[in-house]
Amino acid sequence: MLTSRMKVAIVGAGLWGENHGRLYQDHPLTEVVAVCDRDAARAAALAGTLGVSGVYTDHREMLAHSGCDVLAIVTPDFAHADIAIDAANAGRSMIIEKPLATTREDVFRIREAVERNGVRAMVDLHNRWSPAFHVAHQSLERGELGDLVSAYFRLNDVRSVATDMLSWAARSSILWFLGSHSLDTLRWFFGSEVKRVFAVSRSGLLRSLGVDTVDLYQSTLEFGNGGIAQMENGWITPNGNPNVNDIKCNLLGTKGMIAIDASHHTLLQKVTDTGVEVPDMLVKHRIYGEAKGFAFESIRTFIDRMADGRPFPVTLEDAANTSLSILAIMDSAARREPVDVDYG
Ligand SMILES: NC(=O)c1ccc[n+]([C@@H]2O[C@H](COP(=O)([O-])OP(=O)(O)OC[C@H]3O[C@@H](n4cnc5c(N)ncnc54)[C@H](O)[C@@H]3O)[C@@H](O)[C@H]2O)c1
Repeated sequence: MLTSRMKVAIVGAGLWGENHGRLYQDHPLTEVVAVCDRDAARAAALAGTLGVSGVYTDHREMLAHSGCDVLAIVTPDFAHADIAIDAANAGRSMIIEKPLATTREDVFRIREAVERNGVRAMVDLHNRWSPAFHVAHQSLERGELGDLVSAYFRLNDVRSVATDMLSWAARSSILWFLGSHSLDTLRWFFGSEVKRVFAVSRSGLLRSLGVDTVDLYQSTLEFGNGGIAQMENGWITPNGNPNVNDIKCNLLGTKGMIAIDASHHTLLQKVTDTGVEVPDMLVKHRIYGEAKGFAFESIRTFIDRMADGRPFPVTLEDAANTSLSILAIMDSAARREPVDVDYG
């Protein structure tokens, strides 16, 4: 049971690191004591915004000297593993931005270090906190849809995420950046692990714009319990799309079905001389200056479960199996044949 504010250190002072930082400063159980970024100016800028004096460019230095209790790892997708392992070896629990890791070796290295050191780790697979998806899951749990037979999940980003927002898009994949959310949600809906995948991909548009990454994947997933799902993840949606994400999900069970459109809602439309906007109502916004929306709720849950010692809703195994399934999808798309997911 926590008796004083948890001291949080943030590694990665980018766009999402700032979101983490603002929430820890808002939350009555946490305070930020240090910010670390390879880029000293970025670290100093976020530390200034948050009013924090601890500024580091090396996470090992930070672990040794900042006095932090927990770490928030908010570095690019491919740069989580070494920091997570060093944190675990230093006895610190952590929240890791999704995905857990982008190689098989890193998935197992992180798991081994977390388990050996007896620390706690939650990966921020926050789609489970989205109200629409959470209500759908509750409906499945109550048996209102019967047995889930099939699902369709499209989760895409506008092109500018790959071309302008992320400097490291070519070193990641839309499967890591968004597919980790959709795949984890599907595992959660089916209550089963992905057994086999068959995926196809298309490339070219982003390469023609100077970003060497796959445009889009279509993946068929077979679950251990017999369920099947179709998952689409791409980052070539036109920049004019009113929502950065294109999110559609349909669930079909033996007794009912659910349709989710989390992107093109009509809750609020703003029309001006320059066009129509459909602002985000779910993911992240500020109300009376406080961070609200499901992107913050997952981080809030991490803090609350650290404080009361109860289990995280998303386990390390959830995140590890999500990453291993994504690796199978990439393998399948490259080989153009079905691939069994290797959890061993
Ligand atoms: N939960 C979500 O929906 C969500 C949304 C956006 C981003 N993310 C995730 O958050 C992470 C960061 O994304 P971002 O958009 O903030 O990226 P970003 O590029 O804006 O920021 C990343 C920062 O990490 C720093 N960095 C890289 N390697 C480092 C290292 N070894 N040590 C210290 N600093 C290092 C970079 O200099 C950069 O400032 C990614 O894993 C991304 O997938 C999650």
